[in-house]
Amino acid sequence: MTPLSLSDTDPVELAVDAIVVGLHSTNGAGANGSAPLLAPGAESVAVAFEGRLAETLALLGATGTVGEVTKLATLGTVSAPVIAAVGLGPVPEDGPTPSETLRRAAASAVRALAGSAKVALALPAPDSHEEDAGSLRAIAEGALLGTYRFAGYRTKPQPGRRDPVTSVSVHVSDAADKTAKAEAKRAAVVTAAVARTRDWINTAPNELRPPTFATQVAQAAADAGLEVDVMDEKALKKGGYGGILAVGMGSEAPPRLVTISYAPKGATTKVALVGKGITFDTGGYAVKPAQGMWEMKSDMSGAAAIASVMVALAALKPKVAVRAYLPMAENMISGSSYRPGDVVTMYGGKRVEVLNPDAEGRMILADAIVRAQEDSPDYLLETSTLTGGQVIALGKRVAGVMGEDALCARVRAAGERVGEPAWPMPIPDEVRKGMDSDVADISQVNSGMDRAGHMLQGGAFLREFVTEALPWAHIDIAGPSYHSGEPTGYWTKGGTGVPVRLLLDLIEDIAANG
Ligand code: BES
Ligand code: ZN
Ligand code: ZN
Repeated sequence: MTPLSLSDTDPVELAVDAIVVGLHSTNGAGANGSAPLLAPGAESVAVAFEGRLAETLALLGATGTVGEVTKLATLGTVSAPVIAAVGLGPVPEDGPTPSETLRRAAASAVRALAGSAKVALALPAPDSHEEDAGSLRAIAEGALLGTYRFAGYRTKPQPGRRDPVTSVSVHVSDAADKTAKAEAKRAAVVTAAVARTRDWINTAPNELRPPTFATQVAQAAADAGLEVDVMDEKALKKGGYGGILAVGMGSEAPPRLVTISYAPKGATTKVALVGKGITFDTGGYAVKPAQGMWEMKSDMSGAAAIASVMVALAALKPKVAVRAYLPMAENMISGSSYRPGDVVTMYGGKRVEVLNPDAEGRMILADAIVRAQEDSPDYLLETSTLTGGQVIALGKRVAGVMGEDALCARVRAAGERVGEPAWPMPIPDEVRKGMDSDVADISQVNSGMDRAGHMLQGGAFLREFVTEALPWAHIDIAGPSYHSGEPTGYWTKGGTGVPVRLLLDLIEDIAANG
């Protein structure tokens, strides 16, 4: 990971390759539209430009809209050879610039500066005061995420491709301040978790089948000092994990169930995390269309996010016990695949009628959820790329949340705090009713194969496996876990790392407030 430092040296004196300043847009009507305004943090740089920096940037076409980056050669006015002005949108009416704006802007600036080694950010006053700690967190996270790049598999370097920035410093009023230092350290841990998640998602699916994924996750967790257990297919058979086996045994690469424990001394609250680890989803005998099927290499995003969250917890050390349950399988087509019409006895004994082998996520998750509850958690959080219906309903940025109302509200609040929006969705009775099976306890999807309320069917199915009194939430990340478009803000092409930051924030919230 790229190193991040704090600096309270005047940015004009820094021997870096580029300084990033913020630029607000204004609604003022000038001849060329509106003149942008330099954001706090840029004062000394503005003085070095004899008060003509904003004007010069405007001449270059800068308007201050969020994410816009305008580069300028400094020609000796300050030590750094380049200034990059990043748009921060309108001047905030009261309070600081929104964290998410800062996070995206810092990332956009750092990405635009690829090819430079050292970059310093002089963005709106991340002060050590409590109310500004959020700004520092956002700038540091954004800057580090802006340096992310998946190594890939090219045998030759791409001509003209510039390397990511190699070190970042963030300007603060007091670099020795404890809160500021803690925020910088936290940002390094959190963004490393996001990067690890992205790397796993972006790994080609032939390189990351369940046994390999399990080994890599176990290694990462063990390196972090966490306790790990890996169940192989034999152990799963012996244990009666019917859902994981039904999906996983269609592949030559057999399924796994990985358990990771973080148990700090003195913790009283217990959180269970469950994540979908389908290393590739062909759809099985409900085979998906070829076009776009490759993106189903991201169907393990939930498990990747949770494994990375566990590694981060070992460094952040919140006082709460957390255990992760990660079922891993490859949904393939073969002579041993499960088929429509099958009845599967799940872990815990419930019987499920399979109607669509492409609804494999809920099969492996139900087993893991039942297993998780044997350890009597106080909360259960599950995340998965569960349904295409989530993407239709909420799009590519906002996750869907179903479960117990109060916990769903906390998931939503955490998502709002970190810029990973997650929106509560209902589980209507009629959706559940539509999943009544003629032959088993429940059908895996609507028994008439009606796709209405597709995302909600996923929630209804999983709820069947949760004890009534347990606060639980299912976070469907089918859309936001993977970004297919051009890089934007701190999102690069490919895995996004959603909902790593949401989960870490929520776990810290649970550690602090129960
Ligand atoms: N992995 C998919 C869901 C998905 C779709 C994730 C798009 C990311 C992007 C899941 O296993 C699946 O295929 N779900 C089916 C459910 C259906 C068969 C009830 C779907 O969404 O069509
Ligand atoms: Zn599927
Ligand atoms: Zn799937």
